[in-house]
Amino acid sequence: MPNFLSGLSIKLMATIIVVILTVEVVIFLPSMANFRASWLEDRLRVGVVAARVLDAVPDVMALPSALTDRLLISAGADAIVYRREGQSQLIERDGTKPPENVVAADMRRRDFATLMTGAINTLLSDGSRTLRIVGDGDMSDSLVELLMPERPLRRDLLDYSRNFFIISFIIAAITAVVLYGVVSVLFIAPIRRVTQNLIGFRQAPENATLIISPSTRRDEIGIAERELAAMETDLFSMLRQRRHLADLGLAVAKINHDLRNTLTSAQLLSDQVATLDDPKVQRLAPRLVTTLDKAIGFAQSVLDYGRESAMPPNPTPTNLGTLLDDAAFDASLVGHPTISFTNQTPAALVLNIDADQFGRIFTNLFKNAREALEASAGKTASPAVMAEVRPDDSGLFITITDNGPGLPPRARDNLFVAFEGSARSGGTGLGLAIARELTEAHGGTLNLVEQVQGTRFEIFLPASLKLP
Ligand SMILES: Nc1ncnc2c1ncn2[C@@H]1O[C@H](COP(=O)(O)OP(=O)(O)OP(=O)(O)O)[C@@H](O)[C@H]1O
Ligand SMILES: [Mg+2]
Repeated sequence: MPNFLSGLSIKLMATIIVVILTVEVVIFLPSMANFRASWLEDRLRVGVVAARVLDAVPDVMALPSALTDRLLISAGADAIVYRREGQSQLIERDGTKPPENVVAADMRRRDFATLMTGAINTLLSDGSRTLRIVGDGDMSDSLVELLMPERPLRRDLLDYSRNFFIISFIIAAITAVVLYGVVSVLFIAPIRRVTQNLIGFRQAPENATLIISPSTRRDEIGIAERELAAMETDLFSMLRQRRHLADLGLAVAKINHDLRNTLTSAQLLSDQVATLDDPKVQRLAPRLVTTLDKAIGFAQSVLDYGRESAMPPNPTPTNLGTLLDDAAFDASLVGHPTISFTNQTPAALVLNIDADQFGRIFTNLFKNAREALEASAGKTASPAVMAEVRPDDSGLFITITDNGPGLPPRARDNLFVAFEGSARSGGTGLGLAIARELTEAHGGTLNLVEQVQGTRFEIFLPASLKLP
């Protein structure tokens, strides 16, 4: 199992924190601009109240400076200018020097871009500038201006940003911890349980106590658990069945081996018996010999089947035409007194296949065709077997066709099933099963193609097996 640093949990925590902080940063700029706007708005409002007082006084200059100073201090300003109908009134604190570095904040323009750039500008300044806040008065056509140092605004903005980030981080951390707890219980723990079970079961699939007991959840994790339990149960019984079959197979192979040896001794005896002059013996002996031959053949092919099944193909460049000719010869088709054999494979066709295994596939198919044609001797006019090759974009089709009686229904049902497909006396029912198994081991397929007359088997091989 992965440790804490490489597991899902740490990835989840890190993702939550990164996502929340990213969101906070995206929210930060607008909210800072907003903060600055309302800060300026507050100052301006005091300025407007002060301006209203000024408006009511006939001569501003005559006001005592103690009063105007108090007004200015409560607005936090150095000077207030009030303009209306082309006239302007000014009050300023005693002893203020004329401002030098003035930056304007015009509150009549409150579009987003202006507010944002204004906020950034204040943050990046050194705080030594003088701020001129301009806004509408409460009368029509009136204008109020406040002059004040920028420093308090900048200080408040910095405080605001710091608090914003501290709170953001606290929120991110709390959210991460809470989400982590919830997600751990709801998802990560069940996933770890499934993962642990997978690891454990793979190491000992024959141990039924390791099969996961699924929860009653109805979500994807619940489905995964139930499917896993079903799969493990299947695998467990399959493995057990496999082991039993393998044990049985071994026993059968041993019995079969002894049986074949016993039969071979019986065959030697029957050969000797056949030399006796007794007419009754002479009549029965040949039948005894063929029966024993069949029994030995059967025992031998069962032994071969057990031995062959485990070998993976060993591909070498093989000329397909020659291989088909050799197989036809082995199946006694070449030089057959009644059956004609034609091989229409292009001479230069070379495939990267296991020549022994494909030889066996073709021999089986040719032997079946010959046996079917011989069994129906006299009923088929000019019996013939033909091998053809048809290339295609996806691969190569090799067809073996005969014009014999076609497949008997009994054979059709279990064709390609070992020991079950045979519909002729003396047949083991292994030929087609072996042929299909060997073709599939090469990545190909072997199928029966329906015919009106005769039988056709088609082997498909992927294009990758073809050599240039
Ligand atoms: N070309 C064919 N024409 C007619 N019947 C066929 C043909 N090929 C196969 N069959 C039928 O299919 C059955 C199964 O064939 P398969 O080669 O698997 O077994 P088998 O020939 O009976 O035994 P084995 O090949 O193991 O000696 C045969 O018994 C036969 O009845
Ligand atoms: Mg056969």
